[in-house]
Amino acid sequence: MLKQPKLVIKEVSLAWTFIKCKDNQSFVKITIFASNFIKTILTMNQEDFFKKITAHAKEYGFIFPSSEIYDGLSAVYDYGQNGVELKKNIREYWWKAMVQMHENIVGIDAAIFMHPTTWKASGHVDAFNDPLIDNRDSKKRYRADVLVEDYMAKIEEKINKEVEKARKRFGDAFNEEQFVTTNPRVLEHKAKIEEISHRLYGAMEANDLDAIKQLILDLEIVCPISGTRNWTDVRQFNLMFATKMGSVADGSDTIYLRPETAQGIFVNYLNVQKTGRMKIPFGIAQTGKAFRNEIVARQFIFRMREFEQMEMQFFVRPGTELEWFQHWKQERLAWHLSLGLPAEKYRFHDHEKLAHYANAATDIEFDFPFGFKELEGIHSRTDFDLSRHSEFSGKKLQYFDSELNESYTPYVIETSIGVDRTFLAVFSHALKDETLPDGSVRTVLSLPAMLAPYKAAVLPLVKKDGLPEKAREIMDMLKPHYMLQYDEKDAIGRRYRRQDAIGTPFCITVDNDTLNDNSVTVRNRDTMQQERIPIDNLTAFLHNNLH
Ligand code: GAP
Repeated sequence: MLKQPKLVIKEVSLAWTFIKCKDNQSFVKITIFASNFIKTILTMNQEDFFKKITAHAKEYGFIFPSSEIYDGLSAVYDYGQNGVELKKNIREYWWKAMVQMHENIVGIDAAIFMHPTTWKASGHVDAFNDPLIDNRDSKKRYRADVLVEDYMAKIEEKINKEVEKARKRFGDAFNEEQFVTTNPRVLEHKAKIEEISHRLYGAMEANDLDAIKQLILDLEIVCPISGTRNWTDVRQFNLMFATKMGSVADGSDTIYLRPETAQGIFVNYLNVQKTGRMKIPFGIAQTGKAFRNEIVARQFIFRMREFEQMEMQFFVRPGTELEWFQHWKQERLAWHLSLGLPAEKYRFHDHEKLAHYANAATDIEFDFPFGFKELEGIHSRTDFDLSRHSEFSGKKLQYFDSELNESYTPYVIETSIGVDRTFLAVFSHALKDETLPDGSVRTVLSLPAMLAPYKAAVLPLVKKDGLPEKAREIMDMLKPHYMLQYDEKDAIGRRYRRQDAIGTPFCITVDNDTLNDNSVTVRNRDTMQQERIPIDNLTAFLHNNLH
């Protein structure tokens, strides 16, 4: 098994804290009991994990740093020949579940560029911000809240060291629970964390940028590069990328790369409703690129500056939205579970404090090797977006409900999931180093079969005696239906390992007996069991086993 990152701390017993959650256009501070957030940021040895995942993803053609020959571009990645297949399969699996399986949901593909007023109406121009601070000596820019969080993480490391020292000293008699609740040094560290988090999240909640800077100064936090405390003031930094367009009707030429795909759906609500004669409740789905100028971007494809979302806005009658919210919570969780990963890897994190436009919100979190983190957001967005677009555009975005004989602005339930984050979830869970009975180690990527880049590899045992020709016949038979690889180079064992490493569920080996009995050996990636199957049954075999 891939070594799990070392836990730095098991539990933080703060009574409360705030977490920040990027829920659509604004950062929302949420009060939660017990510090899951602090626990999460401290339970990871992220670097080891990301090194292993990044190296495998690169070595096997899944993900490359963007423009790598120029030393890459921070938080931007390119998908290689295998990655693009896995990503496409994730997208199609979602599309099938959301659009094909729901008669009342249709898809669109809106442009990335949108009229600039879109982002005024949605609130992104005014409220899509991170607090930033610069060090004047190194000229480096940091998220002010993250500098403080890193400082707290260091105190937690000290607690952890105390615990490890005591464990060594007391051996089997060591009672960790008792130690962390009574040891004076540990208690002092904990109190310090509690005080800092109270000040930090209090200041964030109040949008008090001076108080955040004062906290950085009081804690004597230095720039990791220059080592100095020569900080600028804290400023709010908008996360949208701006660019220029030749001519825009109102004379302003600044437009934005969309930070979410959702707004493309809202502005097309009436077009789709009218042309599709859609009856409420109905949904509009979309997949596509989104862009955010993330400041802390050191988590591989978890937090990217260019990423892909799969979003669905479900339009409902006002007053029914909370029922639909519950419905979509369950339906989306069922989708995740249908991938076959363990149920305990997922949990809901219901938001207790809500953005002003929402009346319910939850995250589906996934237990990444660096802790539970948001994978998907489900939000009951009321009529906020349609009303705002109506106000800013002067167009009525309503629905005439013939059953009620009245017009209203529909309420919206949104489901929003990142393709790249789903990729990271399945990829990181699937990647394992397995020790075999003979002591050798194989690296295997046990991806859900329906997501695997290639469904089978066809391998002639040797490169002679008519075996490659027979293998090519099998390729021709199966290729119209499945993504296949053909490989005749190296010993069969090495070829199996290559396929294991890219997650191919089945290897189909053509040997000398094949020429006599018209059967092949099919090897299962996960069990490594082999079975003899007539070539005529191969299509049915794959059909029955690739889900
Ligand atoms: N329209 C709602 C919306 O955009 P969000 O919680 O900001 O909500 C939804 O984003 C999902 O998009 C997240 O759950 C995550 O999977 C993905 N996502 C957001 N920011 C991302 C980033 N910088 N890199 C990769 N994925 C991201």
